[in-house]
Amino acid sequence: MHFPTLIARKRDGQPLAPGAWRASLAAYLDGGIPEYQMAAMLMAVVWRGLTDAELAELTLAMLESGERARPAAGSAPRADKHSTGGVGDKISLVLAPLAAACGLVVPMMSGRGLGHTGGTTDKLEAIPGFRTDLTLPEVEAQLARIGVAMFGQTETIAPADRRLYALRDVTGTVPSLPLIAASIMSKKLAEGLTALVLDVKAGSGAFLPDPAEATELARVMCRLGAAHGCRTTALVTAMDRPLGRAIGNALEVEEALLVLDGEGPADVRELSLQLTAEMLVAAGLARGPEAAREQAEEALGSGAALERFAQLIEAQGGSPALVDDPAALPQAREVELFEAPRAGVVARVEPRALGEAVVALGGGRRALGEAIDHSVGFVVSVRPGQRVQQGEPLASVFARDPAGIAEGLAALGRAIVIGDAAPGPALPLVLDRVAAIDVEPTGS
Ligand code: URA
Repeated sequence: MHFPTLIARKRDGQPLAPGAWRASLAAYLDGGIPEYQMAAMLMAVVWRGLTDAELAELTLAMLESGERARPAAGSAPRADKHSTGGVGDKISLVLAPLAAACGLVVPMMSGRGLGHTGGTTDKLEAIPGFRTDLTLPEVEAQLARIGVAMFGQTETIAPADRRLYALRDVTGTVPSLPLIAASIMSKKLAEGLTALVLDVKAGSGAFLPDPAEATELARVMCRLGAAHGCRTTALVTAMDRPLGRAIGNALEVEEALLVLDGEGPADVRELSLQLTAEMLVAAGLARGPEAAREQAEEALGSGAALERFAQLIEAQGGSPALVDDPAALPQAREVELFEAPRAGVVARVEPRALGEAVVALGGGRRALGEAIDHSVGFVVSVRPGQRVQQGEPLASVFARDPAGIAEGLAALGRAIVIGDAAPGPALPLVLDRVAAIDVEPTGS
């Protein structure tokens, strides 16, 4: 195999021959293909896409690059949720303990921040002492004890996606329907799931902003899931504004704790409940959507989900006292308010500008393997459509130094657009639902 020839073939819009993706991936993981060549190939895929057969082969090769959980026959249903990436998307932090408190087994493998979007693994690592580098035996032992484990990819669990994900993050090669589908489905299918629920983001802050493209991504992933015998459904949800108020790792953990405690922003609570209910139905733990919703509301309202989060933190090396004392999270050295530069109506809160600013403040990566500052970010208290007065505080910026504050205030100035009249309608929180599509399982 001569990889530069394959790159040129993909650049020219030709499909690769059967077996070429599997062989290329194996060579890349063995060090036989350098990062710069794989980066060129990924960029060619961004432009030219993959055929269905190439996508199926790439996903399977990525899935088989590492170990897979194989739950014993007759064990409790396993379910998980994955988001295609958003700004302020801390749903997993609420949903994983909530779904476990409802009786599901939740082996949640997550990624790090990608492009302008945050990653659950980075958010969890904002919790002092929290270990995300669990081995599969550790995951299984924890699932048997408390029904939930939240972990990152390692050399043994979905290593191909871990390597490609990190490379895509720093080479402008994230926004590609087949690359997103292969990335998400390869790691999720490694978890040995009964059911998977996908949160596919649409709107300006999503990797695929066009709702029609987002729905197509949802369909492609549901089909891949079904082909591997995993009941997969998807909600297409709004990312034309940030989700909730907090953006940035430690700030988002704090907001998730509020939601688990029965408070917090309504959109984070609502989406957490809807996605959890989807999981309960798909995994066969609830009779129907209404019963599932009631079960999820009960587990949130009773404090059972918060209690499960405390157990999860303790099981993975942190202090469970954090749930009552979020001040133990990393705190930014500098904090400053952003005030409305004029009176009017908030026309937009642009998520992408804020996500990119978190990376610029040090809360995300610009080079492979960079360390990040978990304390930085924003809390934005206004929503599109809200009337504001000049000088009214609209948001706070959290930074490590005065230069970061200046950068953050400038980003807020770009992101929060104030007009004279009420803006057009925002996207509904849930735009669409894609149900599992019947496909012959491949028996993998
Ligand atoms: N989330 C993932 O896990 N992979 C992607 O490519 C995008 C979002």
